Amino acid sequence: MPSPFEAVSVIGLGYIGLPTAATIASRGIQVLGVDTSQKAVTAINAAHAHFSEPDLDGLVHSTVRSGRLKAFTEPQPADAFIVAVPTPIQPDKQPDITYVEQAMRSICRVLKAGDLVILESTSPVGTTQRMAEVIGKERPDLVSANGKAHGLKISMAYCPERILPGRMVYELVQNDRIVGGITPECASRAKELYSTFVRGQIFETSAAAAELVKLIENAYRDVNIAFANEVANVCDHLGLDAWQTIALANRHPRVKILNPGPGVGGHCIAVDPWFLITQYPELTQVMRAARNVNDGRPHSVVDRIETALSETGSKKVCCLGLSYKADVDDLRESPAVEIVEMLGHKGYDVTVVEPHVTELPNALVGHSNIKLQQLEDAVTESDVVALLVAHMPFKNVDRSKLQGKHLVDCVGSWN
Ligand SMILES: NC(=O)c1ccc[n+]([C@@H]2O[C@H](COP(=O)([O-])OP(=O)(O)OC[C@H]3O[C@@H](n4cnc5c(N)ncnc54)[C@H](O)[C@@H]3O)[C@@H](O)[C@H]2O)c1
Repeated sequence: MPSPFEAVSVIGLGYIGLPTAATIASRGIQVLGVDTSQKAVTAINAAHAHFSEPDLDGLVHSTVRSGRLKAFTEPQPADAFIVAVPTPIQPDKQPDITYVEQAMRSICRVLKAGDLVILESTSPVGTTQRMAEVIGKERPDLVSANGKAHGLKISMAYCPERILPGRMVYELVQNDRIVGGITPECASRAKELYSTFVRGQIFETSAAAAELVKLIENAYRDVNIAFANEVANVCDHLGLDAWQTIALANRHPRVKILNPGPGVGGHCIAVDPWFLITQYPELTQVMRAARNVNDGRPHSVVDRIETALSETGSKKVCCLGLSYKADVDDLRESPAVEIVEMLGHKGYDVTVVEPHVTELPNALVGHSNIKLQQLEDAVTESDVVALLVAHMPFKNVDRSKLQGKHLVDCVGSWN
């Protein structure tokens, strides 16, 4: 069946926007991607993904070469717009939705009656409604005279993204989706768009419910990880192995404790719970406590490393991994980076091994006592080896090379 959308514009061509744009283009729909980063636009128009994600480069290559995917730095007219720009938190943990607002204002130049606008960025509850009001103010000609429920001659919806880095191209198609409309009609128009490429089920709801769904998904993950990390803190205090202890507890038929780690990082789980905590502080005390536990983990790991260093009488530690999770190159909000930074500040000699990067991130540049090294040399030259990220090469490291070293395994891979 031909798609009711001749041209779709994706605003923000990062980790979420680019796989979405390329997937829609692969269904034969013309996709006009827009990003304010000239570097990203140039790379995409040269048929390359500007970051690493399995199967994405091939998809970008084929869709750009077929002419279905084109990238621009300025908004282009289309029938549907998907906004996937960053929604970080400010230093005081309040959500920063200025990128969303700028993106919405920018498309106002090209919007026409009948268009569909979808927000995909993870956002505080109420943002889609607020953006409808922003658009109405910028484009009074698009405000309905007929008193339609949402008051606009365009459809507006919120559709959260839940794909997993490392499996984005697959999950984008296979995952179930929630589409929340400003009105029920808006939700069903959004469903029409996602039906062009999603094989999972698509559930319609209100925009506010869809916004909340995304936030509670990530808060749920954060709280459950915090529980595992709290168990690990107790185990460390008692001198017990956290992974073995948790594995035994998980023999209970109704218990499923997650694995502990050095903290919680990335663009989502460490950030999104704040969108609820800052809006509803009295109603989110478990979420707040979970953030405290997870934010405190890097400090506990540094304490363990310092204890190991003082036992060996050495100042030299090798830290394996910098990314926020295994087998990806994403260092955003990474607890491993925080741990290395703390050790650097404390004056230790830190050699870092991170197979997914070629240079240290900004937070670690300028510390003469922190350097990036190859795995074998770094392990050989250090008395204390801290495993911070369960990258495959670290899991498979030749164990004889670790003999005689003081090991601090924060991910339970070497047990
Ligand atoms: N990365 C994930 O795994 C993930 C998962 C689910 C949800 N999300 C959410 O999706 C949203 C996007 O995240 P991301 O990881 O893709 O971010 P990203 O930083 O990788 O990409 C965002 C892109 O938007 C561009 N941009 C910023 N302002 C713009 C504007 N006004 N017009 C056009 N382009 C603009 C940036 O240059 C950047 O390339 C965030 O709200 C995030 O929380 C991310």
